[in-house]
Amino acid sequence: MAEDGHRRSGEGASPGGGSDVGGSPSSVKALSSWDTAAEFFNYYSSMKDYVDSLVADSVGQHVHRIAATCPSPIVLDVAGGTGWCAIKVAQRFPQAQITATDFSSAMVEFMKRNIKEAGVANIVAKVMDGQDMKEVGDGSVDVLTCNFGINCFQDRARGWREIQRVLRPGGRAVVVTWMTMSPHLLSQEALAKYDEEEKRRGVDVGVDEKKRRAEAMERLMHMIMGLPSREAVTADLASAGCHFSSVEFYEVRHLWEDMPEGDIEKVTSSRGPYFCGVSPGFKDIVAGRDMQLVMSKLDEVMRSRLNEKRKVAVPWKELFTILTK
Ligand SMILES: C[S@@+](CC[C@H](N)C(=O)[O-])C[C@H]1O[C@@H](n2cnc3c(N)ncnc32)[C@H](O)[C@@H]1O
Repeated sequence: MAEDGHRRSGEGASPGGGSDVGGSPSSVKALSSWDTAAEFFNYYSSMKDYVDSLVADSVGQHVHRIAATCPSPIVLDVAGGTGWCAIKVAQRFPQAQITATDFSSAMVEFMKRNIKEAGVANIVAKVMDGQDMKEVGDGSVDVLTCNFGINCFQDRARGWREIQRVLRPGGRAVVVTWMTMSPHLLSQEALAKYDEEEKRRGVDVGVDEKKRRAEAMERLMHMIMGLPSREAVTADLASAGCHFSSVEFYEVRHLWEDMPEGDIEKVTSSRGPYFCGVSPGFKDIVAGRDMQLVMSKLDEVMRSRLNEKRKVAVPWKELFTILTK
């Protein structure tokens, strides 16, 4: 085993070797946006009841199925954010050797802290660009997880090729992407109401600002909703020149209904731009807007979605792509 990574002897570099993240100006901009979003993202991800159970259980089930055939699987979590998914998998599979990575060093700092707090010993956290995992050996990974990550990459084709390269023959990747994403749906609804309100008040923001807002929304949607269907993933894999021995798809639906009424105000006031802070692209969208009004519209939208249990209820749908090399 490497100093602080996991290594299977004779199989080249381990996933845990560290990374220098560089790249094009747009990659650098994306990186700094995620660095800036890290604190808020960590807060969001730590709202366990709201988020963890939704996806981590599904990812865990898939890892379980795959891991059943390897006694001590080498697991690589790509674009792992602040680590909650890797931590869930680590708790479920203490025998797994997990390397959790993200290209944002700010995310990885939170990841390290969360791993320590969770008291799990089988995860190593590393800064690593998922588009260029040069320190991970060819064919060295049994199970790769990438949860809402590859859709955010600047160059997804490179990301897919890296997944293919690092998996061992027969190894599997569990890649999760959004088909619909509840917090963003709420934000979108809130912004639509905001625009109506501006119109009602006779506010004219001008053609340029309208254009800027529309482009910012388009950029964000491209990033978060870039792989919303099996057709989109299949086309992406083909254009990346990737060939896996099998590609399976599952759609997972949840009703996101964990946030109790009492937390709405916490979200819209004390923590500021809650959903708007989760993805860095939202900062551009709300830049020219009155934040207080944005938040009051978000409050309105969330309250309109309270169900009989007095919880915010929004449908949430993900696409699981299981790739076997
Ligand atoms: C929506 S978050 C998902 C994080 C985590 N997997 C989760 O489910 O909470 C997307 C993550 O992708 C990371 N990311 C974006 N581009 C990346 C890249 N090229 N390489 C590695 N991580 C990247 C971001 O820093 C961010 O943490």
